[in-house]
Amino acid sequence: MDTGGQLTRRDILSIVIRLGLAVGTSWILIRTLVDYLDPNHHAIKEAKKRSRILLKRLNLDKKGIEFDNYEIRIATLLVTPSEGIDMECIGGSQEILAELKSRVILPLQLKSDGLLPASHLFSPAKGILLYGPPGCGKTMIAKALARTSKAHFLQFDMSLFFDKWLGESQKLVAALFSLASKIQPVIIFIDEIDSFLRVRSSHDHEVTASMKAQFMSLWDGFSSSDDQIIIMGATNRPNDVDEAILRRLPMRLFVPKPDAQAREDILRVILEDEHVSPEINLRNVAHQANGMSGADLKEVCRLAAIEKLKHIDLSDQQIQMQDLLLEENDLIGAIKKYAQGSILEANRQLIFESVD
Ligand SMILES: Nc1ncnc2c1ncn2[C@@H]1O[C@H](COP(=O)(O)OP(=O)(O)O)[C@@H](O)[C@H]1O
Ligand SMILES: [Mg+2]
Repeated sequence: MDTGGQLTRRDILSIVIRLGLAVGTSWILIRTLVDYLDPNHHAIKEAKKRSRILLKRLNLDKKGIEFDNYEIRIATLLVTPSEGIDMECIGGSQEILAELKSRVILPLQLKSDGLLPASHLFSPAKGILLYGPPGCGKTMIAKALARTSKAHFLQFDMSLFFDKWLGESQKLVAALFSLASKIQPVIIFIDEIDSFLRVRSSHDHEVTASMKAQFMSLWDGFSSSDDQIIIMGATNRPNDVDEAILRRLPMRLFVPKPDAQAREDILRVILEDEHVSPEINLRNVAHQANGMSGADLKEVCRLAAIEKLKHIDLSDQQIQMQDLLLEENDLIGAIKKYAQGSILEANRQLIFESVD
């Protein structure tokens, strides 16, 4: 080895390798130590992983987009098109669905396909309000819109935005809009918008007020931009909707109590895959159900089916399908029984106001 104080090539190589190993090991040690000392390290790593999964689910993984932690929390509100419902599941409401198709779905699609000229006039309204009596399909229509339009759909849930930590609620509201602009076109649906950001208690007052102000200002920001973000609200009490919110929902659609024809359509949809007699005259049943909402009709059908169970013979420990076949009389009987029931009793004047 001794070559008169001179280093051989082997020596130099061995020194370089040792040096490299030392630097590498120290680097790994320091990183492990830093990771160990950083309390957020695990959370950040986890967030990155969730962000990647989310991007994949949204088909956005190749667009160089990333989500931060707050946006990921908001993304739990996303309804994918497969979770929505088909327009065919909605009975009646044909005019409303046609309006939504031509005024919202079509322009969104043409725009995202790049077929429209750069003009604000061809953009759908940035705010839509569905209003009308309860149980007549407003929430259903919104969900069907999620499925039919190729837009993403965020179902707003206020409880997610109330955070006990100072400033967190604001960050979440900001994240709602930043996420929306990343995944646009998107429809943000706020059910029961009359109670939206309403003060729940004096304790909440300050947080609510500042959240509301922030929400409004972000909303205004994208209203004047070319972003394809639509806010859709539903309410049974349009008169209770805050004036400032109402102003921002220029497209308003009334979802009425179903008339006789719509009730027949709703009954047909509800009973489509059920065990029913082909002799039922649904027109007659719909006529008897004057004043009922879609939700009432659903309950009537359920009641008729459950009532059947009372009359079956269980002595041979078997149920004959024939005994469960729903007949017209079962439905008419259920309508009468339901009409006498407590739920209807409470809403008597609402239910029995004639719509035909
Ligand atoms: N037009 C309709 N067609 C079919 N089912 C309906 C219709 N309207 C209401 N329903 C039934 O009533 C339930 C409640 O409807 P929903 O959309 O929540 O009413 P709203 O939001 O107007 O209060 C639905 O889940 C559905 O079972
Ligand atoms: Mg509803």
